[in-house]
Amino acid sequence: MGRADIMAKKSSNSNLHQAKNAKKDEFYTQLSDIENELKHYKEHFKDKVVYCNCDDPRVSNFFHYFSYAFEYLGLKKLIATCYKNQERDLFSTNSSEQAIMLVYEGDKNGNRIPDPEEIGIVELEGDGDFRSAECIEILKGADIVVTNPPFSLFREYVAQLIEYDKKFLIIGSQNAITYKEIFPLIAQNKMWLGYKNGDMSFKVPDHYEARATRYWETIEQDNEGNKFTQKWRSMGNISWFTNLDHSKRHEELILYKTYNEDDYPKYDNYDAINVDKVADIPCDYYGVMGVPITFLDKYNPQQFEIVAFREDKDGNKYLYSHKTNLIELIDNAFADTIARERERERVRRCHQTNTQWQEHLQKNTYQKMAIDGLMNNPKDTQVKGKSKYARILIRQLQ
Ligand SMILES: C[S@@+](CC[C@H](N)C(=O)[O-])C[C@H]1O[C@@H](n2cnc3c(N)ncnc32)[C@H](O)[C@@H]1O
Repeated sequence: MGRADIMAKKSSNSNLHQAKNAKKDEFYTQLSDIENELKHYKEHFKDKVVYCNCDDPRVSNFFHYFSYAFEYLGLKKLIATCYKNQERDLFSTNSSEQAIMLVYEGDKNGNRIPDPEEIGIVELEGDGDFRSAECIEILKGADIVVTNPPFSLFREYVAQLIEYDKKFLIIGSQNAITYKEIFPLIAQNKMWLGYKNGDMSFKVPDHYEARATRYWETIEQDNEGNKFTQKWRSMGNISWFTNLDHSKRHEELILYKTYNEDDYPKYDNYDAINVDKVADIPCDYYGVMGVPITFLDKYNPQQFEIVAFREDKDGNKYLYSHKTNLIELIDNAFADTIARERERERVRRCHQTNTQWQEHLQKNTYQKMAIDGLMNNPKDTQVKGKSKYARILIRQLQ
């Protein structure tokens, strides 16, 4: 085999690999999951243009839901674009041949049903990739983006929504919480979890392999009455991510436990107590606490803030609040107690009065962890030499 052949084979293997990976994104959301979540956001949708940009209208329940709920929500316009899979010859099941845009502007004939003649179909010039110039133009004109985007492109997908300053309600894996591109958005209250977090079941294409767990098949009937086998997969770590306000994030988490040193030991290297279960967060502790990631399901930004440890070159220790963007001194490197207290007092006054001091701190302190406020390195979470699972650093607001 010549060099050119080897290269060609390598490239086709990698295409195949990419196509298989791309196909791992084909998880179709159930209508009931969409309905159950969307019912908490009705007030946000009045007179809004909704864009579902990872949605083949032939299989997407997002388009289905919004077209039927158009009048109920008082929408202005619904747009869906569908991705034309470049590798469709390899596994050509549900792949569409042509990327299209569907536009629905509400019921015209009074039957309150989205009839085919009321839905405008436009062929896209490109492949319908949400990152394409054509789809970005549509995005610019939209108010709220709602979909289940490809998990493999979640970072880019969210970055684009933030760049174009869009409201959104999207499905993703909870693993995304610990991505360095995603966690800061959550910490700064630019994005939060939706209502439902945890288990979710999805229809998957026929070429998905069977699995020992979280996999099943059902026999279903198509519109012509032909029976077919539908494959399903479920995942236990799915969340809705959004920047639309909802009432759950204003619910106070009721705290029952009180602090004591034995139950809440400090981390070996950080001045923060470890809390193993969200329900065990002590009601009377106002210092920094490391809590499991599941805390975000209960996170009320009026009750807690996400914080991070900082240090300067002299070894002075600071705490950064993601909520206020302010840095405060928590411990200084002066050995002498009086000098320590004097320095504390000086910093406290600067902190209150001097924005230049804050600017100075922002420039001259450095973060102690790879992701500010998230302990996901086993070295960080050690308590008496034993590592805990990933923890988020929080503080109760008084
Ligand atoms: C997790 S599935 C969800 C599909 C649909 N939104 C739903 O919820 O049923 C993600 C979809 O995004 C499509 N997709 C993959 N890459 C894309 C891209 N670059 N631009 C737009 N859509 C893409 C996939 O083909 C897949 O159908």
